[in-house]
Amino acid sequence: MVEDGLGDLVAKGLGSGLLSFSTDLASAVAEVEAVLLCLPTPTAADGSTDLAVLEEVCVELGSLLETGTTVVVRSTVPVGTTRRLPEMMGRSDLPVVANPEFLREGTAVSDFLGPDRIVVGSDDRDAAAFVAGFYEALDVPKVVTDPSAAEMIKYASNAYLVTRLSFINSIAAVCEGLDADIDAVVEGLGLDHRIGSAYLRPGPGWGGSCFPKDTRSLVDSARRGGYEFRFLEAAITANEEQFDRVVAKVEATVEGGISGRCVAVWGLTFKAGTDDHRDSPAVAVIERMMVAGARVRAYDPTVASRSEALPEGLEICADPVEACRGADGLVILTEWPEFAEVDPGAVSAVLEVASVVDTRGVIDRKRWTSAGFGVESIGR
Ligand code: UDX
Repeated sequence: MVEDGLGDLVAKGLGSGLLSFSTDLASAVAEVEAVLLCLPTPTAADGSTDLAVLEEVCVELGSLLETGTTVVVRSTVPVGTTRRLPEMMGRSDLPVVANPEFLREGTAVSDFLGPDRIVVGSDDRDAAAFVAGFYEALDVPKVVTDPSAAEMIKYASNAYLVTRLSFINSIAAVCEGLDADIDAVVEGLGLDHRIGSAYLRPGPGWGGSCFPKDTRSLVDSARRGGYEFRFLEAAITANEEQFDRVVAKVEATVEGGISGRCVAVWGLTFKAGTDDHRDSPAVAVIERMMVAGARVRAYDPTVASRSEALPEGLEICADPVEACRGADGLVILTEWPEFAEVDPGAVSAVLEVASVVDTRGVIDRKRWTSAGFGVESIGR
């Protein structure tokens, strides 16, 4: 796992005796004042949220916890779940609190120590104050509310962020058609203090282990609550279309199309700074290219070999230039800074056609065009 600062923190915690790990739930929760649930809540096949792991753990906790132990839900769970915890545990003497985390992969430690806000939701005021007290040392706003609002804040945050990303990718598509430069547009847009510049970088689409899952979950929950969240569904559809648009760009750079040809890919993870390729836009694009009949050779600094989670037949290469050997075109799908350092001359020496689709804006356009490359990007 690539997580800045985590190794040191864990070592320090273990060394001081403040941190310990156990696979034995009974001994781990004996004599504790609070239990924090950080459990996976994946999407089920029907689009709903699969709470099986949470339910299973709650049943176990119900038979183990001492009266008064506070149970804190840190996982992203559908609105109403925290209030159902007493029923799942078969106990009404354990205060329950929703305390969603907003950590990003790769920067979880700094996000934890410097959050924008802390959200705590409970129907039990004392329990809410107790959990808010965990974060006393952090001088940030603390939103103390009821459990449903706390759960909703997490979903609304992620839904808003993906909407921004689908919006900017759509603006980029408009820019391409009308010959406007997306970089200048993003700069001018982000300087409006009502808008801000974060989460406005166009790319191959958004992904990761949270955004796709949480947006689908919110669409599903909304429907159960009697509302068709068409606006958010449109953001999801725009994202799928973004993957298709990237493939179309690659198709356009390879004469005669990609069927039966070989495409080199730089980047497999859903963003730089992580080794996670679950629900990665890069993988979505690769799958589409393979369905279109392309052979794909890929390089990613954190992926040394093909795992089961990667498409069958995908070739993993040891370095970026090697991935390009004999390929008919190159597409960059993750913004790893090291890609900017690669010498375009070394790439053109092994690539059949000097063309690159840079979906993340990582390479120096001038340097690559001077080296004879056709450079395609998003929004330009
Ligand atoms: C996200 C949320 O940010 C975090 O608050 C939540 O707890 C978990 O989900 P993470 O999955 O680590 O965190 O990803 P994030 O860094 O937010 O990026 C998500 C996706 O958006 C990536 O595919 C990334 O490349 C893309 N992105 C992000 C853009 O395309 N442009 C941007 O400007 C920002």
